Amino acid sequence: MRFPAYRARRLRERQGWRRLVQETTLSPSDFIYPMFITPGSRVRQEISSLPGQYHLSADMAVEEVKDVADHGIPAVLLFGLPESKDAVGREAYSDVGAVQQAIRGMKKAVPDLLVITDVCLCEYTDHGHCGVVEGEHIANDATLDLLCRTALSHVEAGADMVAPSDMMDGRVQAIRASLDGKGYAQIPIMAYAAKYASTFYGPFREAVQSAPQFGDRRSYQMAPPNAREALREVRLDIEEGADIVMIKPALPYLDIIARARQTTDLPLAAYNVSGEYAMIKAAAANGWLDEPRAILEALTSIKRAGADMILTYHAKEAVRLLPTLDW
Ligand code: PBG
Repeated sequence: MRFPAYRARRLRERQGWRRLVQETTLSPSDFIYPMFITPGSRVRQEISSLPGQYHLSADMAVEEVKDVADHGIPAVLLFGLPESKDAVGREAYSDVGAVQQAIRGMKKAVPDLLVITDVCLCEYTDHGHCGVVEGEHIANDATLDLLCRTALSHVEAGADMVAPSDMMDGRVQAIRASLDGKGYAQIPIMAYAAKYASTFYGPFREAVQSAPQFGDRRSYQMAPPNAREALREVRLDIEEGADIVMIKPALPYLDIIARARQTTDLPLAAYNVSGEYAMIKAAAANGWLDEPRAILEALTSIKRAGADMILTYHAKEAVRLLPTLDW
C-alpha cells in the first residue's frame, strides 16, 4: 500500500465516492429526545442554561411529543420537576406527579411514541442527592425502595421503559424484581450503567435545581479516569437484568462507548449531556463554530464509537439538519 500505488485521495475527490464509502450514518431512529416536565398547565418556558429546550407542563408536553413523533424520532426521555422538594423526594413516586400526568397524556395522544422515564430522586429531594441521606452519607439500600416505587408509578401511568440514573448499587435488580412482581415483566430497563461524576451535567442541574446542597456525587457516580470500572458497571447491570446499557456523558467518554461496544451484544445507548449541548450552543452563539456541522459531527462521532442510540437535546434539530449535510 505504498505511495504512489495507494492514493487515499482517489475516493475523496468526488461527492459520489464519499457517499459510497461513508461508514457511519445518522438517522432519526438513532435519537431519544429528553424533556423536562413541570407542574401546572400552559407552561412552556425556555431553560436559560439550555437554549432551545423548555420546561413544559404535562398538557404542553403532549403537544410537544406530537412534534417529536412528526420528526420520526422513536422515543422521549422524561425528567420531572416537583411542586415542592423534600428529604425523601415524595413527588417522584406520586401518582399525580407532573411526569405521571404527562405519561398518561402522551400515551393517549401518540400511542406509538415510546415514553422512557428517568428514575432518580435528585430533582425531587431538597438536599439534591440521588438517594436517601443519613447524616452526610447517601444510604444505598434504603434508597432502592423509593426507586422501585418511582419506577412502578411511571409504569402504572403507562411508561414504556424506565431508566434508573441514580447509580445506587443493586437498583436494576431491585426495579426488575418489583416490576415483575406487579405483572410488568414486559417492561424493559435502560440502565445508566457507567455514569461518571461529570461537570458536564451543570446546565441540567441548573434546569432542575438539583445541585447537591452539601458534598457532591462522587460517592455514587464514577470517577472520570476509570475505564475498567465502567466495563464492570456495564457487566453488573446486565447481570442484574438491564435490557439496554448506557454510557454517560458521551463525547468525553467515546473510548468507554467503544470498549463497552466490544464487551456486550446488548443495545448500547450514549447520553450526549447538557454540557455537551451547551458548549456547542454557546460557541455557535459567539460565531466560533458552524452550529449545524458541529452538531452532526458530534453526534456522528458518538455513533461511530459504537452507540446504537443517542439521548440528545439536539434530536429534533439534528433530524432537520440531516438532509442538508454532505460529508
Ligand atoms: C439525575 C440525572 C442527571 C442527568 C440525568 N439524570 C444529573 C446528575 O446526575 O446530576 C444529567 C443529564 C444532563 O446533563 O443532560 N441523576
